[in-house]
Amino acid sequence: MKFPVLKRIAPASVLDGLTTAVITLDQALHVAYINLAGETLFSVSRRHALGKPLVQSVPEFVRHEDRLRTALETGSGFMERELRLRRTDDDSSAEIFTVDCTVTPVQVSGPGLLMEMLPVDRHMRISRDELLLAQHEASRELIRGLAHEIKNPLGGIRGAAQLLEREYPDSEHREYTRVIIREADRLKNLVNRMLGPNRLPQKTSVNIHEVLEHVRQLLEAEASSQLSVTRDYDPSIPEIMLDREQLIQALLNIARNALQALKESGGTVTLRTRTRRQFTIGGLRHKLVAQVDIEDDGPGIPATLMERIFFPMVTTRAEGTGLGLPIAQYLIHSHGGLVECASRPSSTVFSIFLPLSPT
Ligand SMILES: Nc1ncnc2c1ncn2[C@@H]1O[C@H](COP(=O)(O)OP(=O)(O)O)[C@@H](O)[C@H]1O
Ligand SMILES: [Mg+2]
Repeated sequence: MKFPVLKRIAPASVLDGLTTAVITLDQALHVAYINLAGETLFSVSRRHALGKPLVQSVPEFVRHEDRLRTALETGSGFMERELRLRRTDDDSSAEIFTVDCTVTPVQVSGPGLLMEMLPVDRHMRISRDELLLAQHEASRELIRGLAHEIKNPLGGIRGAAQLLEREYPDSEHREYTRVIIREADRLKNLVNRMLGPNRLPQKTSVNIHEVLEHVRQLLEAEASSQLSVTRDYDPSIPEIMLDREQLIQALLNIARNALQALKESGGTVTLRTRTRRQFTIGGLRHKLVAQVDIEDDGPGIPATLMERIFFPMVTTRAEGTGLGLPIAQYLIHSHGGLVECASRPSSTVFSIFLPLSPT
């Protein structure tokens, strides 16, 4: 039985730079090495994983132990596509994710196994967020064009009505010119809101938790008594350079939807922060990204609506404008970030990703 010999292990910095999770196992299927992507993928720390059985760090591998042993004994590796694994976080919420897993027998200090695991979910997200960005850009172009076409004649109509008023100050038709002016103003406001904020972000160093606490207070003031807003913060997140007002608006747009979804049944909105390593946004890979989740345990968003919620004018509420989410998305985009949504009954999570480090 011949094993390839790893004469010189790649320097740690190279292995830690990979997006593929790398784990090596010794003959007893104990973890001999785990790289940074592996720690992140399985939410384990190197310190806790090293020298311990693989199944202790990734319990899901219990089901694959026999195959791993066979690979070790026969010296022939295997590849398993779309292996579904589960990550158990300390808050006991188990997250299922999918990896392509390659197992190769190697000789390090004695026979062992080299496992490479590439998260497939991440691939799906990269293509999805590029699509999201492209769709969003296209709809903004459309609105910009339309807004221009509406605002110019609107200015003319309003101006003409004002002239009429001035020409005939005592006319009994004054109430009609008032209606023209008022409705023209309403339309202009609508168009402006569709265009979203048109100033560039004015970035200052911001403590994300201070902003979230501000948002939480506003929400609590608005929420009825059978609604609660809880928080789950990762205090290690450093300050971020961003436009405080714009971030607050984006968070409020998303969180108000959550409150509205809970209006009838009551429930809980959770504000959660985490950091994510090696995260890709719109094709750019970031070393460190802040993730802000706004979760509610309301009815969820129907699958048929899901694809469209970030488009302007998409609403299911009688008094809705359908502008809350596209504006939130636009504001976060202009900070180099991304908003994503995952929804099922009793859990709707909007995740805001904001880069913390240069690419
Ligand atoms: N947390 C949520 N739970 C259920 N549905 C939601 C949630 N957030 C957004 N939605 C759906 O997305 C639609 C669009 O939201 P938004 O863009 O803010 O516009 P609006 O609030 O004016 O309807 C809402 O009408 C609603 O149907
Ligand atoms: Mg809304």
